[in-house]
Amino acid sequence: MARVIAVFNQAGGVGKTSLTRDLGYEFAIRGSRVLLVDADPQASLTEFFGVESDRLESSLFDALLHGALPSLVEMHGLTVLPSSIDLAAADFLLAAEIGRELRLRQVLEKVEADFDVIFVDAPPSLGNISINVLVAATEILIPVQCEIKALRGTRHLFETIDRVRGLNPKLKIAGVVPTLLDRRTRLNTESYEVLKNRLGEKLTVFEPIRRGVAFAEASAHAVPVQKHQPGYDGIADIRRLADALGG
Ligand SMILES: Nc1ncnc2c1ncn2[C@@H]1O[C@H](COP(=O)(O)OP(=O)(O)OP(=O)(O)O)[C@@H](O)[C@H]1O
Ligand SMILES: [Mg+2]
Repeated sequence: MARVIAVFNQAGGVGKTSLTRDLGYEFAIRGSRVLLVDADPQASLTEFFGVESDRLESSLFDALLHGALPSLVEMHGLTVLPSSIDLAAADFLLAAEIGRELRLRQVLEKVEADFDVIFVDAPPSLGNISINVLVAATEILIPVQCEIKALRGTRHLFETIDRVRGLNPKLKIAGVVPTLLDRRTRLNTESYEVLKNRLGEKLTVFEPIRRGVAFAEASAHAVPVQKHQPGYDGIADIRRLADALGG
């Protein structure tokens, strides 16, 4: 069975999608067979890889609602299961379906034999798709922005994780990754220390991912940061996290 790592936080803009892209690519260049699933109707991951989702024969929407085999796209030595805007309706439509929490797990069961690790980029919400992501996952990786207000949001997140345990008792929290750390800003560095100490009481807190313009540029150029700027220092943060996750 493949590892299924959900990159999850209902807070928006904390770096989930960028991390899914770069970490997935890092695992792929180290030899893992990687599938990246874009479970967000915003389709940022799909966009960050330059996939044109309107050309797909079968979308994640069709797979979740109608049991279709989703179209997969190969690029940069890994495979992407793209999202599209119609996924926004899936969140609502799933509410009326029997076994609605299990749909993504069933989709992944059809394809997982070809992969060692599957990363799922979750949307910034706690709706039906997010529940599907947590039920399909074997592990959760939680990117948390280095701000004090992030602590408030994590409480809600852990309540949701506890609720899905009935359907997915083996779900593990791999840990928290502090993101967008700017060491030149004192407030940011102090917030990072507070997060590390508070969350570290109960969870693994990985080394942080720095804020760096190369990450944002990589998104704009639709490539992993390692391809965008191979000599960039910040890539060390991605490598360290991949090491910690056993990539
Ligand atoms: N380490 C970083 N340094 C600088 N900019 C970053 C970094 N990581 C991500 N960004 C930029 O920050 C923005 C938000 O990142 P991203 O889309 O990965 O977050 P997200 O948590 O997936 O957002 P959403 O909740 O909307 O899905 C993007 O424009 C991205 O390019
Ligand atoms: Mg995202």
